[in-house]
Amino acid sequence: MHAVVITEPGGPDVLQWTEVEDPVPGAGEVLVDIVASAVNRADLMQRQGLYPPPPGAPPYPGLECSGTVAATGPGVTEWKPGDEVCALLAGGGYAEKVAVPAGQLLPAPHAVSLTAAAAFPETVCTVYSNVFLGARLSPGETLLVHGGASGIGTTAIQLAKNAGATVAVTAGSAEKLDACRELGADITINYRDEDFVQSIMDATGGRGADVILDIMGAAYLARNVDALAADGRIATIGLQGGRKAELDLNKLMRKRGTIMATTLRARPREQKKAIVEAVREHVWPLVEAGKIRPVIYRELPFPEAAEAHRIMEASMNIGKIVLRAQ
Ligand SMILES: NC(=O)c1ccc[n+]([C@@H]2O[C@H](COP(=O)([O-])OP(=O)(O)OC[C@H]3O[C@@H](n4cnc5c(N)ncnc54)[C@H](OP(=O)(O)O)[C@@H]3O)[C@@H](O)[C@H]2O)c1
Repeated sequence: MHAVVITEPGGPDVLQWTEVEDPVPGAGEVLVDIVASAVNRADLMQRQGLYPPPPGAPPYPGLECSGTVAATGPGVTEWKPGDEVCALLAGGGYAEKVAVPAGQLLPAPHAVSLTAAAAFPETVCTVYSNVFLGARLSPGETLLVHGGASGIGTTAIQLAKNAGATVAVTAGSAEKLDACRELGADITINYRDEDFVQSIMDATGGRGADVILDIMGAAYLARNVDALAADGRIATIGLQGGRKAELDLNKLMRKRGTIMATTLRARPREQKKAIVEAVREHVWPLVEAGKIRPVIYRELPFPEAAEAHRIMEASMNIGKIVLRAQ
């Protein structure tokens, strides 16, 4: 098969469409003929040598894919050749084939094309596990999503609106904030010329956000605590603003606040399976009903993966960038 190989750590041009060995599905795994994958910010870090794949994962980038089941390994009974699927991966999505633990597959939704289905697994599983399973966002509560126009943000807005929450977002341009509003965001904050703490406090009558989905890490830690409502929960999933910061625990205690931090890729298979099952039960019906859609900024063929990385590195994308097999 062919895969996008990281020839050495570096810029986008180290991504080369190369002939490599086919994967073989092990016990409990399914071999998928890939139709499409999608770019996640973690792929950029992997390309730079800053985010090595976990042990046992393929060396090629790609945390999600869609396609058709080609074969099943020993012990797999729930999938059969020909099934159209999408999958949460620990790596290897930028390729023509991948072997995936059976518990990380979802049936491809009928409501979107098989290519578009590749844009779902990583963001939907990340948002669902953090905002709903972890931070327990409830109807009537306010969710603040940093980077509302990102792949993660466009998913979080739709899921939270469908759950009856009020959604606030930050983004760095009027165009991105418009896109967030079209997806249902109620409160839009341009972080370049507004103080998001002041803006969220003004918009919530001084209450703050019940849940904050954070991708900035250290740079926003203190201000996220300031922006938090009493009994609020911060779910940190990104470190774009650094990993080390000082925290005023007294402020957090007075608000009875919680800070959680997770990374999906490093979770054990059993946890990924449980998250995928919860997504299938709670999110897939919304997708089939047309209430959640993948927001796709651009589609490119796999050999143009370098261009896809350039687009994301420049933060041009609103939503996801899809890579397709042909
Ligand atoms: N922990 C996990 O399991 C997990 C899983 C998936 C993703 N993630 C993380 O989630 C984040 C988004 O991932 P993605 O793939 O969706 O990436 P993406 O589409 O490239 O989004 C990154 C976003 O960051 C925004 N941003 C940059 N500086 C900002 C600031 N100061 N305040 C608010 N927003 C800012 C950019 O928006 P502007 O152009 O408006 O600046 C951009 O939309 C990444 O940090 C990624 O590592 C974590």
